[in-house]
Amino acid sequence: MASSGIPESPDMMVRFMRSGEIFTPSAPINNQALFAGRVNQLNRIIGAVSQRGQHAILFGERGVGKTSLANVLLKILRGSQEQFKSVIVNCDSEDRFEQLWCKIFLELENTQNLDFEQHQVNPEFIRLRLQRQIVGSAIIIVDEMDRLKTDAYFTAFMADTIKTLSDHSANVTLILVGVANSVEELIAEHLSIERALIQIQMPRMSPDELTEILRKGLDLLSMTMDREVIQSIVFLAQGLPNYVHLLALYASQSAIRTNSSSINVNHLTQAITVRSLILEEKKELSLTRLEI
Ligand SMILES: Nc1ncnc2c1ncn2[C@@H]1O[C@H](COP(=O)(O)OP(=O)(O)O)[C@@H](O)[C@H]1O
Ligand SMILES: [Mg+2]
Repeated sequence: MASSGIPESPDMMVRFMRSGEIFTPSAPINNQALFAGRVNQLNRIIGAVSQRGQHAILFGERGVGKTSLANVLLKILRGSQEQFKSVIVNCDSEDRFEQLWCKIFLELENTQNLDFEQHQVNPEFIRLRLQRQIVGSAIIIVDEMDRLKTDAYFTAFMADTIKTLSDHSANVTLILVGVANSVEELIAEHLSIERALIQIQMPRMSPDELTEILRKGLDLLSMTMDREVIQSIVFLAQGLPNYVHLLALYASQSAIRTNSSSINVNHLTQAITVRSLILEEKKELSLTRLEI
């Protein structure tokens, strides 16, 4: 039976597509049922949200699961009793302090127009406007801070914003997310905000956490995976969940093509071969482009 190419039956096609919704190497998790591990980090970040005047910084390597944690945090809190406003914004390299807050307020106020030009956008302005806008409480997640071209002015303004929000006990939690050095910069020179800012490091995932990703996904797909395949994927991933998703996606799709609901080592080998071929093709394509 075919182990590569398009699945042969409609039923196989449905399962094939479903595996792509469950194993998502290119997209953060947005569904609590698929979220594995990270109990300690979740507890700490929930602790920060529950304490007025506390804000958090979430930092770690790319692909380690920061955005997924932020998404799932909001889902968990939504399930709890209190209603709150939430905003997630992604930073761009062009953003400066003013543009970043402009994005945040556009979302928060659900508007197309802000009157920012008429004001001096500084930390006090941000605090007053947040306090005016937010009736209950709010969580503002600033993701991909590492994309910003930060300078002394930006870090000083961000630090002062955290400080004034904290000093005035505003009912807002800021969660800053980025790779390590981008957030270190923010704290290093601004010790005054250290108490207001809980630092949460996202290390690579443990083998148990990576195995949990596989188990959750396989359960939802009603598939099984041989023990040696699980061990190989966990070993190959080296603590990075995106690789677990990648290998599980290709291996499960390889099994589905052969109409099997049990993933064995041949499916994994096939997955790695297909993946290498795609990478080779991409390399060749970019070489051809370069040659042109
Ligand atoms: N706790 C988790 N459980 C399951 N999969 C995860 C988890 N954390 C991250 N992933 C997966 O790992 C990959 C990278 O996650 P992402 O949140 O985008 O990382 P980061 O924001 O740190 O770059 C995505 O494929 C995501 O689905
Ligand atoms: Mg991310």
